[in-house]
Amino acid sequence: MNATDTLSSLSNVDRRTFGDDESTRMQALSEARALVARLEKPWESVDRMVWSQPTLMLTVKTASDMGIFAALTSSPQNSEQLGNATGADPILVSRLLRMLAVGFVIQEVDVDTYIASEFSNALGDGQGIVNGIHHFYDVGVQQMAALPAYLQKTGYRNPTDTAHPPFEDIMGMSSYWDWFEANPKAHAHFNTFLSSIRVGQPPWPSYYPLSQLLEAYDGAGALCVDVGGGKGRDLKHMADAIGDQHRECVLVLQDLPSVIKAAEKESLPSQIQLIAHNFFDVQPCKGARAYFLHSILHDWPDVEACKILTQLKQAGRPGYSKIVLLEAVMPERVKDVKPRMAALDINMMAHFSALERTEKQWRRLLDSVGLRWVKFWELKGSSQGVIEVEM
Ligand SMILES: C[S@@+](CC[C@H](N)C(=O)[O-])C[C@H]1O[C@@H](n2cnc3c(N)ncnc32)[C@H](O)[C@@H]1O
Repeated sequence: MNATDTLSSLSNVDRRTFGDDESTRMQALSEARALVARLEKPWESVDRMVWSQPTLMLTVKTASDMGIFAALTSSPQNSEQLGNATGADPILVSRLLRMLAVGFVIQEVDVDTYIASEFSNALGDGQGIVNGIHHFYDVGVQQMAALPAYLQKTGYRNPTDTAHPPFEDIMGMSSYWDWFEANPKAHAHFNTFLSSIRVGQPPWPSYYPLSQLLEAYDGAGALCVDVGGGKGRDLKHMADAIGDQHRECVLVLQDLPSVIKAAEKESLPSQIQLIAHNFFDVQPCKGARAYFLHSILHDWPDVEACKILTQLKQAGRPGYSKIVLLEAVMPERVKDVKPRMAALDINMMAHFSALERTEKQWRRLLDSVGLRWVKFWELKGSSQGVIEVEM
């Protein structure tokens, strides 16, 4: 194949090429990233890192604040029209639109004329993924900017101190969660983003057999306590999966008071009881069949993760209660690590002095509390899934 043929065959590839074959699509994405790295000269890589990507993210943030995504449609519009629709200066609008089109967020159809894309439509839904952009703007940008100085100051030691995490240097508070309490708008962005990225993900009961929990359930305590369960999405999935036959099973949603208040507005199934609870305190729900923790322990280094697990171990019944962790297991080989997961690991470091753990690190943590890793029920190809733990 000559260079022209190669180019045209590449430009014909898109999501449809792979139909429902998600794993091959992911492989292709990874190949495409590797292709960019092979094609780029060093200065082009720097250009992408320092100019294109950060600028695109901040342009998306500005365009979202201005209402540009909500105003874009499948009918072509120019900067004058979009300026009128958003009450903004058309010259400013034209510059932002150009950046958005260069970054494949919207589509150019003619000189200064654009249409929406699937992506920009998703960004136009204020309750969706755009909250990830707002969240990163609220917290991530400043915090990542402070990380190099923090690591230099601490002599390049791996951060494990939750009393003084990198986050504190820039946000002025050591606790990410206390900062959210004091910044409700940012907290709402975070919670909405978390819910929105999970919309497309298969619910956990689709890859973890709930029958295991139901079969041995003796009704003495709750069937499942979702510890740090946010606004209850995972418990709702569980209630939907176990269906009407098991409406008597008690499900308990626990989180910090402000999150529980937000969860009260969610119209959750009536079998879900809401309790404000700090997971470092004595667990009030004794003898539950399962204590479920989704993306909780990756927020904490080992000392604090041990404390959380110890409270659950003391509340559970040995041989009966399980701990069900919905978490990532970081692959040992970089070739198997998704870029998002490596980035999340660094973000956990910056927010919390925490980490994404490999299987070895998970096993060591569980062993240290006298708990036993039983099995990793992986959501295929994602390195995420359910770690089933016995007491
Ligand atoms: C990364 S979020 C995960 C939320 C939910 N499990 C999910 O996956 O959608 C971490 C959750 O832990 C809660 N949290 C943080 N510190 C807590 C504490 N000390 N006690 C209880 N919940 C806490 C936060 O409010 C937040 O909802």
